Amino acid sequence: MIKIRNMKNIDIKLVKEIESTSFKYNSPDINFEKELNNQFAKYIVAEDVQQSGQSSIIGFAGIWIFKDEIHIAQIAIYPDWQRIGIGWQLLNKIYQIANSIGNKKIYLEVHEDNEEAIKFYLKNKFNITGKKHKYYQNITGNNDAVTMEKLLLCA
Ligand SMILES: CC(C)(COP(=O)(O)OP(=O)(O)OC[C@H]1O[C@@H](n2cnc3c(N)ncnc32)[C@H](O)[C@@H]1OP(=O)(O)O)[C@@H](O)C(=O)NCCC(=O)NCCS
Repeated sequence: MIKIRNMKNIDIKLVKEIESTSFKYNSPDINFEKELNNQFAKYIVAEDVQQSGQSSIIGFAGIWIFKDEIHIAQIAIYPDWQRIGIGWQLLNKIYQIANSIGNKKIYLEVHEDNEEAIKFYLKNKFNITGKKHKYYQNITGNNDAVTMEKLLLCA
């Protein structure tokens, strides 16, 4: 059974493993300890809970909550668990959070080369709204971000 729940400090070790194995185009290097204490941030995890009671974190997402909108800071699924709807489940939880606080707009930036993530958001009815020039800057060069957003109907 896949459970979507709030991230706890005890999850951070596994979440960092997902972060380091799943991101191909940029290395976010999130300070999760700090983020879990940020009143404007919310981090959730997808947990695989087996009948034996054993469980493992297989994905996570982080959002920043602003006055009228929600920014998806990160979303990542452990490579072995990709493409079976776990990302979709995390997005659904984000929609629930947005609805519960009355925020209609969800937006994000994604690395211009990250075709799988762009396809993922398009499949989930996000629209491309533009580009941010040289948004990702690291030793391999500067890359643009594609900006995307989704307006929720029933917030
Ligand atoms: C983007 C990501 C979160 C999607 O999670 P997921 O659990 O695999 O997504 P879902 O199973 O809910 O949706 C699958 C859909 O996403 C897209 N997708 C995901 N992986 C893909 C791939 N390797 N190639 C092409 N499309 C892909 C497709 O639209 C796919 O639908 P399809 O299988 O019918 O073609 C995941 O690929 C990931 O963790 N990527 C690495 C981290 C990352 O880049 N995050 C985005 C930062 S903004």
